[in-house]
Amino acid sequence: MENFQYYTPTKVVFGKGAEEQAGELIRQQGCGRVLVHYGSGSVVRSGLLDRICASLDREKIPYITLGGVVPNPRLSLVYEGIDLCRRENVDFILAVGGGSVIDSAKAIGYGVKYDGDVWDFYSGKQKAKESVPIGVVLTISAAGSEMSDSSVITNEDGWLKRGYSSDCGRARFAVMNPELTMTLPKYQTASGCVDIMMHTMERYFNLSENMELTDGISEHLIRTVMKNAKILMTEPDNYDARAEVMWAGSLSHNGLTGCGTGGGDWACHQLEHELGGMFDVAHGAGLAAVWGSWARYVIDADPERFAKFAVNVMGVEPAESDEATGLKGIEAMEEFYRALEMPVKISDMGIQLTEEQMEELAEKCSHFGKRTVGCMKKLTKDDVYLIYKEAR
Ligand code: NZQ
Ligand code: ZN
Repeated sequence: MENFQYYTPTKVVFGKGAEEQAGELIRQQGCGRVLVHYGSGSVVRSGLLDRICASLDREKIPYITLGGVVPNPRLSLVYEGIDLCRRENVDFILAVGGGSVIDSAKAIGYGVKYDGDVWDFYSGKQKAKESVPIGVVLTISAAGSEMSDSSVITNEDGWLKRGYSSDCGRARFAVMNPELTMTLPKYQTASGCVDIMMHTMERYFNLSENMELTDGISEHLIRTVMKNAKILMTEPDNYDARAEVMWAGSLSHNGLTGCGTGGGDWACHQLEHELGGMFDVAHGAGLAAVWGSWARYVIDADPERFAKFAVNVMGVEPAESDEATGLKGIEAMEEFYRALEMPVKISDMGIQLTEEQMEELAEKCSHFGKRTVGCMKKLTKDDVYLIYKEAR
């Protein structure tokens, strides 16, 4: 087991009606003025925004609102939020939504406390020292941003999607009522489930050894999400299935399934981020579209690990070799994605990649040839290009 640090300071308030406590939770933070940040309208239509505002009113907490966050959240709205927070002396941000809203809130939080351009953090030029504290009311189980240290923002100038991780951006609290996710379109539920699984799979595929406990937690988490994702395809109002998936979403990305793994691979996330930046695809769907091609490209780095995954997670019968077993596991995972109506190729998302686009994706993903991605194999720009080509 590799050395590790595990830090999850976010208070979780989970269950039916949990959002009613939003005002009280913010009051406990001792703040003066709140920005309520939300997306493109689902929380308005569902009445959730009104309920949150009523909860703040009950606690006599002054607030302003800023909606309009889109999936693959944009830097321009982050700038707008920073200006607004400064003008209005906001000292707490409440994100009501999914990963995109939470990530936008984190970016605004960093930006308010920083004299320079907040993009400096996402482009790797600077590290954030502090942030306006944020809280979350979660409406979709997917990104895990409610308990993660990450934020992913898309810069419209060049359509670069970049992540930044810092403990100072972690949410003070996360309110999670599984009922709030029942209004999700089927595609978003499925895409979210893929993302949750991938956050553990990215960590599971690593070159470390001897991780009995972490592997066991990871394998069970993925199987739990698979089982309940299938239930949700036909029973979107099944509370227990929603609850299992929601809790898995947080545990999958709060570091638990990475303890002792040395960090994990993360190449698929890097491959997907470029697709999201250039083509605005749903994040989980983009991950499903590239995973099989990535897995086949790197399987020979550690066939034993892929075989373990195939048997313990996908329930595959061992074949004549680890590699053959691993390949059966990859096929089984693709079969599962199809059952969720998720893509297994980029063309399944209606995108016909041209030669130039594959080169551009590879350029961006490798930071113009300056970095490699992944740990199972350290993928260069040329490797990345071949994976996009295989996945197209
Ligand atoms: O904007 P609204 O109208 O709210 O609609 C959203 C959006 O269209 C809708 N939605 C959310 N909750 C709903 C709902 N519709 C009906 N009922 C509800 N209860 O769902 C759509 C997707 O929302 P979004 O927030 O984009 O989803 P998700 O949570 O998957 O977040 C995706 C973003 O998170 C980033 C992704 O790259 C992507 O930009 N990630 C962030 C991570 C992190 N911060 O730790 C890690 C992830 O790996 C990921 O990269
Ligand atoms: Zn993800």
